[in-house]
Amino acid sequence: MAEEQTLSIIKPDAVGDNHIGAIVARFEEAGLKVVALKMLQLTRAQAEGFYAEHEGRPFFPSLVEFMMSGPVCVQVLQGDNAIVRNRELMGATNPEEAEAGTIRADFATAVSANAVHGSDSPESAAREIDYFFNSQEIYPR
Ligand code: PPS
Repeated sequence: MAEEQTLSIIKPDAVGDNHIGAIVARFEEAGLKVVALKMLQLTRAQAEGFYAEHEGRPFFPSLVEFMMSGPVCVQVLQGDNAIVRNRELMGATNPEEAEAGTIRADFATAVSANAVHGSDSPESAAREIDYFFNSQEIYPR
């Protein structure tokens, strides 16, 4: 299996609910390594740019507002098959449909406040990692 890197965001709801450590522990317990990590408050431009592919969709304005509503924790996760593995750990977008034991089943409260983001393809992982981190901020191991 390929060693990959993927971008993860712990969203404002989960940061506000004090779940940073519990969520990072899920990644580490599953064998994914945290090779970069920072906390930041997204500007409108950063939130809109990050979700640019969804511009024009009905949920876009509320998604941008939500992502600006408090600090987020962004991290690069590394490991075998990390992109798919992270998505499995996250569970379905809508927490009501998320499998028991997934991050969203345990920590998300609504589709509009769903605790975490994870890159969905190698192309988006490359773009999203580059969106938040320069190469000197990433420590592969
Ligand atoms: S798609 O069509 O599969 O690309 O869309 P999807 O992955 O379902 O959703 C894209 C992102 O929008 C978020 N989302 C929402 N935010 C607010 N309100 C509503 N109703 C809503 N529906 C979807 C969803 O969580 C995705 O964000 P990320 O950060 O990628 O999880």
